[in-house]
Amino acid sequence: MQARSATLPDAIGIEQMIQVHVADGTLLPRSLAEICENIRDFVVVELDGEVVGCGALHLYGMHLAEIRSITVTAKAKGKGAGRVLVDALLMEAKRQSVTCICLFTRIPDFFGQMGFQVVDKEALPDKMHKDCLKCPRLHACDETAMYLGALPKHAPGAMSARSALEFVQIAQWQS
Ligand SMILES: CC(C)(COP(=O)(O)OP(=O)(O)OC[C@H]1O[C@@H](n2cnc3c(N)ncnc32)[C@H](O)[C@@H]1OP(=O)(O)O)[C@@H](O)C(=O)NCCC(=O)NCCS
Repeated sequence: MQARSATLPDAIGIEQMIQVHVADGTLLPRSLAEICENIRDFVVVELDGEVVGCGALHLYGMHLAEIRSITVTAKAKGKGAGRVLVDALLMEAKRQSVTCICLFTRIPDFFGQMGFQVVDKEALPDKMHKDCLKCPRLHACDETAMYLGALPKHAPGAMSARSALEFVQIAQWQS
């Protein structure tokens, strides 16, 4: 089982693997255009020459990166591909000198056994600004935030997540 950097010919397969888990909210939707634009974020894992999983590492800066869009096809589940993907993304984070890796998940036990710890979402303002503040489940989020490494002390140039949340609540109250 081998992980490798994704290339543009993998993009359609990546879109299809992600799409399987979008309807139930397990993964955020990623359009083909978005996947192509960010193909260098992705790694894929191959089993017997066939791509059976993918995952991405979104870089916010040296203080934080996020593991996202991680999935393995149904027939390859339980054979170690998920762990291979996480290891490959952590290696890439290390190569980029990133000091904290975060993720939001409904399966904290899977990531917990790889060393990730649960954290309050507000400790990750970059992620909240990128996705949460425009998410319809903002106030009913069923995902667990997790991190590995050293939590960022502050996100450069970012409003704190609490301030941003209050800003959204005031805007909603006024409308
Ligand atoms: C989660 C997922 C990527 C795991 O992939 P996988 O290839 O089946 O996982 P692995 O075979 O590498 O499992 C590694 C370990 O995690 C455990 N594990 C696998 N899925 C798990 C889960 N849902 N919850 C808890 N532990 C899990 C395995 O038992 C194994 O433990 P072991 O090393 O002690 O034997 C895969 O089930 C998947 O694609 N799920 C749907 C999409 C999804 O939920 N993505 C995560 C979004 S944050």
